[in-house]
Amino acid sequence: MEEVIRIEGGHTLNGTIRVSGAKNATVALIPASVLATKPVRLVGIPNISDVKSLKKCLEYLEIDVSSTLSDEIYIDPSHMVNKPLDIEAVSKLRASYYFMGALLGKYRKVIIKMPGGCNLGPRPIDLHIKGFEALGAKVDYTNDTYTITADRLKGTRIYLDFASVGATINIIMAAVYAEGRTVIENAAREPEIIDVITLLNKMGASIKGAGTNVITIDGVKELGGCFHEIIPDRIEAGTFMILAAAMADHVTLENVIPYHLDALMSKLKEAGVHIDSKIDYVDIYRSDKLKAVDIKTSPYPGFATDLQAPLSSLLTQATGISTVTETIYPERFKHCEQLRKMGANTSVTYPKATIIGKTPLVGTDVWATDLRCGAGMVVAGLLAEGITTIHDIYHIDRGYENLDGKLQEIGAKIWRETID
Ligand code: EPU
Repeated sequence: MEEVIRIEGGHTLNGTIRVSGAKNATVALIPASVLATKPVRLVGIPNISDVKSLKKCLEYLEIDVSSTLSDEIYIDPSHMVNKPLDIEAVSKLRASYYFMGALLGKYRKVIIKMPGGCNLGPRPIDLHIKGFEALGAKVDYTNDTYTITADRLKGTRIYLDFASVGATINIIMAAVYAEGRTVIENAAREPEIIDVITLLNKMGASIKGAGTNVITIDGVKELGGCFHEIIPDRIEAGTFMILAAAMADHVTLENVIPYHLDALMSKLKEAGVHIDSKIDYVDIYRSDKLKAVDIKTSPYPGFATDLQAPLSSLLTQATGISTVTETIYPERFKHCEQLRKMGANTSVTYPKATIIGKTPLVGTDVWATDLRCGAGMVVAGLLAEGITTIHDIYHIDRGYENLDGKLQEIGAKIWRETID
């Protein structure tokens, strides 16, 4: 038995969608909360399975977790116990690696299984490890398990060879209780990092430089509780912009910070999509005359790697030759194979895909090989003639809250079925 998503393509979309809280901020904010000694209340939590996995990790660490609203989580770490994180929930997502920085920072010791997550080609964590070692930790990796310990953590200067989101956040968390000053150079600048720093500073940390590539952390003795509202999900918003550019007469996205999406919006406009952005909402109208564009992914504020798969589906409908060059995950092109099954004219020579359009797409069986490939298949299914069946939808449910329900509300023919 397997649950699949089915889409009958060709229906026009119309209406308003509310964007949820940012997945990639949430999955760092939840582990960051364990650094506190008092309760932390987070609102804007998306209802996705990655959050469920992280809650299991919190409960395993004997942290009180509750919620009164559906998008809220109340985390009380006052009586937590630092146990080895060797449970299955850890392996369900990449972001469980944030417990490394958080538990090391708070207890000087963490034991954790190798985290899982989407298969996007090689995803090393050497920069995280080098950062912990620079702060004074010893790292052992045996039987798929990291044991990271430190007698003391001492602030230092850390230069990241690549502006890694995960390494930046993990080093910040390991450094908040360290003695003295830590400076991270070539830090990543993603909005989700700013959100984590905002939370930590509300808890009492002393972190400067959020949103720049030099972040300074002055160690403190204690972090208290706080209330924090999570930023909107720029990747979910971007996915809806692309969906709307494919099929909307007029779709409005609410709860958006448009400047987080400048790179995508400028590419969509270049392709001929009509977009009107205001302070916290965006109107999008489909274009029947899409033009080919060239995309190159890069760290924020560049074009987000997480949006290249959904955009690739749209580009099958653009006239001319589009190229997508991936500088973050050079092998993140599994969606191209799925698009070919639907009739797309696309070829891949790592790290670049070429899409020649416009070609009609025809519904068939496709696989969500990872989260954003899944989003790409939804875009393709809406565009295709006939019925598209998407398999392995647990990837989609890891990172998009109620994607099919939100699309039904604006007129998409999309539903779930259980098949043998
Ligand atoms: N890298 C290293 N060594 C490291 C860390 C990263 O070589 O120690 C390399 C990676 O292999 C990759 C590049 O640096 O080539 C960027 O990796 P980064 O650390 O920035 O990515 P991440 O923290 O693992 C987060 C998001 C991803 C998103 C990337 C890039 C989370 C949980 N994940 O991953 O999101 O693609 O940043 O923006 O925040 C997704 O949401 O679908 C997703 C994969």
